Amino acid sequence: MNNFINQLPKAELHLHIEGTLEPELMFALAARNQIKLPYSSIEEVRNAYQFQNLQSFLDIYYAGAKVLIHEQDFYDLTWAYLQKAQTQNIRHTEIFFDPQTHTQRGITFKVVISGIRRALVDGQNKLNISSHLIMCFLRDLTAENALQTLEEALPYKHWLTAVGLDSGEAGNPPSKFREVYAKAREHGLLAVAHAGEEGPADYIWEALDQLQVLRIDHGVRCLEDPTLVIELAKRQIPLTICPLSNIKLCVFKSMELHPLKKMLEAGLCVMVNSDDPAYFGGHINENFLAAQKGLELTQQEIYQLAKNSFQATFLSMQQKAKFITELDEYYQTFILPADLYGNAVDTNVQDHAGLQKIPIIHS
Ligand code: HPA
Ligand code: ZN
Repeated sequence: MNNFINQLPKAELHLHIEGTLEPELMFALAARNQIKLPYSSIEEVRNAYQFQNLQSFLDIYYAGAKVLIHEQDFYDLTWAYLQKAQTQNIRHTEIFFDPQTHTQRGITFKVVISGIRRALVDGQNKLNISSHLIMCFLRDLTAENALQTLEEALPYKHWLTAVGLDSGEAGNPPSKFREVYAKAREHGLLAVAHAGEEGPADYIWEALDQLQVLRIDHGVRCLEDPTLVIELAKRQIPLTICPLSNIKLCVFKSMELHPLKKMLEAGLCVMVNSDDPAYFGGHINENFLAAQKGLELTQQEIYQLAKNSFQATFLSMQQKAKFITELDEYYQTFILPADLYGNAVDTNVQDHAGLQKIPIIHS
């Protein structure tokens, strides 16, 4: 099973680039930028990563991001993630970044996005990993601040695929950002939002109805509302699940209690992601392995999760079909030919390619 998971072609759709900052790079950047860290060793940093809830994580995560100053720092951060992604056979990735975490400290939007974009282009050309970039608004800040951030982003909108919503969920409902999302959509950006991680199922309804999101990030609390589950399954709204994150942030007490398998059985379009791998103890393959072990996922279920990951991307229908063919060919080597025919490429893959973008070319 380990080999099957490690080599499995997959897409990652819920990954905060600031959450990939490993303590080693944090120390290297702190030295390069002459920033004093509140830790004296890498071990001390890792020991600090004990979280009781989302907010206790966010406090440490925003503090760590302070070492990112120059365009090259954002490049190095993104490039390190992409190199890791290649070893995990991530074929396509749609990454989040939090511009306000940096612009609030006086770093320009241009510095942030240019470094990330340069690494993503290199990722396509040198590692054959295609990508999309999603700009997240910090929901604990004001709607005006989000609107101002969108204005700053508009000159770079050809580098962006979607807007997202992250940071402290409780008390910051999606409806707070209705106007800024409407404006982003007017500019051709797609929409996703974190909802139903710590916040209630109602926040998922709000994200769907008021922000018109095409995917829900986390969304695990949808199970508290059976009508919502039916709606999500009927519309095949993807839910980007992050198993290790949910355990580390105490959303569920143990992996055995994680609802991923139940969600698959309910016909929901769920897949596995790493969220903030440097903080939560593993990248995507470690998430797959932990969920497989805790929930006794079958090879067929692992395959379905990987297939959902490609279905749920913002790639064109042809690009999705190409990756799913690659996945099916891989899967064929692990199962009896008689089982194959039920797993052929779907003909009804959804197409999100209608946008005019300057894409990172997908070979
Ligand atoms: N939830 C909300 N905000 C975040 C997360 C998360 O899981 N990771 C980074 N910012
Ligand atoms: Zn997240």
